[in-house]
Amino acid sequence: MNNDLLEVKARIEELRKAIEYHNYRYYVLDDPEITDPEYDNLLQELIGLENRFPELDHLSSPTKKIGGEPVSAFSSKVHSIPMYSLDNGFSMGELEAFLKRIKKQMPGKDMDFWVEPKLDGLAVEVIYEHGNFIGACTRGDGITGEDVTANIRTIKNLPLVLLQNHNHPEYLEVRGEVVIPTKDFENLNALKIEKNEKPFANPRNAAAGSVRQLNPRITASRPLYFFAYGIGLVRYGRHDQWKSQKDISEGLKSLGIASVPQGKVCKGFEDIAGFFDKHMQQRKESPFEIDGLVVKVNELEVQDSLGFTSRAPRWAIALKFPAIQARTRLKSIQVQVGRTGVLTPVAFLEPVNVGGVIVSRATLHNENEIKAKDLLIGDKVLVQRAGDVIPEIVRPLKEYRTGSEKEFVFPEKCPSCHTQVNKLKGEVAWRCTNISCPARLEQGLIHFVSRKGLDIEGLGKKWAQIFVKKGLVEKISDIFSLSKGDLLALERMGEKSAENLLDSISLSVKNVTLPRLIFALGIRHVGEQTAKSLSEKYIDLDALAMADEEELKLINDIGPEVASSIVVFFKNPDNLQLLNDLKHKGVWPVMETGSTAHDFLKGRKFVFTGGLENLTRDQAKELVEKNGGRVIGSISRNVDFVVAGENPGSKLEKARQMGLRIINEKEFADLMAG
Ligand code: IVH
Repeated sequence: MNNDLLEVKARIEELRKAIEYHNYRYYVLDDPEITDPEYDNLLQELIGLENRFPELDHLSSPTKKIGGEPVSAFSSKVHSIPMYSLDNGFSMGELEAFLKRIKKQMPGKDMDFWVEPKLDGLAVEVIYEHGNFIGACTRGDGITGEDVTANIRTIKNLPLVLLQNHNHPEYLEVRGEVVIPTKDFENLNALKIEKNEKPFANPRNAAAGSVRQLNPRITASRPLYFFAYGIGLVRYGRHDQWKSQKDISEGLKSLGIASVPQGKVCKGFEDIAGFFDKHMQQRKESPFEIDGLVVKVNELEVQDSLGFTSRAPRWAIALKFPAIQARTRLKSIQVQVGRTGVLTPVAFLEPVNVGGVIVSRATLHNENEIKAKDLLIGDKVLVQRAGDVIPEIVRPLKEYRTGSEKEFVFPEKCPSCHTQVNKLKGEVAWRCTNISCPARLEQGLIHFVSRKGLDIEGLGKKWAQIFVKKGLVEKISDIFSLSKGDLLALERMGEKSAENLLDSISLSVKNVTLPRLIFALGIRHVGEQTAKSLSEKYIDLDALAMADEEELKLINDIGPEVASSIVVFFKNPDNLQLLNDLKHKGVWPVMETGSTAHDFLKGRKFVFTGGLENLTRDQAKELVEKNGGRVIGSISRNVDFVVAGENPGSKLEKARQMGLRIINEKEFADLMAG
């Protein structure tokens, strides 16, 4: 390296250290030392240098928080130590029983407890090696999670390099919760609604959806936070000074990792109960959803003696807050028709404040629920928001009935098109079966043109409703026949808007891909991901329409219910007519055959251990991927092939124990040859 480059390298290192430090001040200590423009200057200088000197760029650089390339799926990863769940307690009586139980197991032992908020998000494990962030995975089933490294890297309050570089464990697994602040969740949903997308049901779903997102740039745009509550494997042994939960919480913080805030050492029942009450009073003020407190034996040695049941530690309990409830009146019940024709009753309530959120509607799911809850229109009702943000009616307060309340009669006819409704065998929902029902058509059209579907710019919910109402669209494919004259006849549609809209429609015909079109059709249970999987197998809609259930079930992630729904969709003559119309209008994307011809290893997972004689690891990986397979790093039950080369490592033994299929280099070469 010449002197100039050495100088640049030193400056880059200086900038990275400074930015990591200011991130820590801002995100962990909540006490910034510099202004936002000053911070931006440092970041811009670093971005500039890394662009000019790509050889000095690094994945641990704080500039990597903007998110890398999208992936098509997550690989799975086995936790080095299982991630257990927690037993729940719903009353002070259960707390008392918990304390009694552990005292009995450890007689004469004086115990402290570490008590901290239970954050309602997604459990994630984050891994550091030599102080650098190297990976992250979700809790999954506790044994195996999904590798979400690229997404977790984008979380702003999580350091990519630990502070105190010389004094951290060589290998450190940190466990914690990824959450989204309630305020940001509300803004995110408002934006989604504006774009005609389905809003998240609650902050937990928003956090989980953002982490399990295949495009890390989208994750980067979401205001996610990671808060640590524990550790997994730490090499070698536990970090020397960490003897208690309190030490872990403070120790992680000193390394730059935010721990769950407001933890406290409590002495016994009274102390914990007081802390619980205090938090319950304050829960509305918390910037994050908290669904209770977690009480943990503080001393790690005592935790070790108490151990685990098959599901949860014996040394901890989650004390849940009661759901937030309020009373109001049920004004009316209205039935809404979705795009699949399902009739959903919705309760309209006198607006009421439930834990800081004004609630004026609640879902009632179906007719049976109204009957089971014995709800009458005009009833005074108890409404609740439990962790979830979608409110529900708990029960009617029958003691307030005056006799003027009225029974709700489920309509026998669709409220939109007046066709007789019917119930499918084994289902509780009533459906409108009229494919041209305006309400269904309207919802179907909104879905068809939505961002994940045909993505027709300028054609949102409002225009979709008008087109249906004015009879310009009587079936979905009619949007491709709209003329300028049709549009100009509509109120508030000017010359320019009409032209733009027609351009967007033509553009969508040209640009639509097969997965988008499959999604747009609105087949029950077929979301974006399933549509993608289907388009990897079938070259066009004709091919998909001919698939039978058995064949569909062979595709990853497609179960019997989804397979049956796809077959039912393509049996329906109206849907076949839609396919025909789309073909005639040129809305007919065809998948390139190249991607299907070589995918005989589709979905198969490979693990390599030991050296190969004739190939490098990268070449072997390339071969697997070219044939549709995937190479992953660790052994688990989902691995299909373990390729054992020279001097294989411990993975081979593990694979043998699990009874996995082990092949040598020659067998691997034969397999790749097809
Ligand atoms: S301690 C051995 N502490 O709750 C398990 N968990 O319902 C130790 N959670 O899977 C977990 N906040 O994802 C712990 N302060 C906290 C927590 C917390 C949220 C989650 C965690 C766990 C789930 C169990």
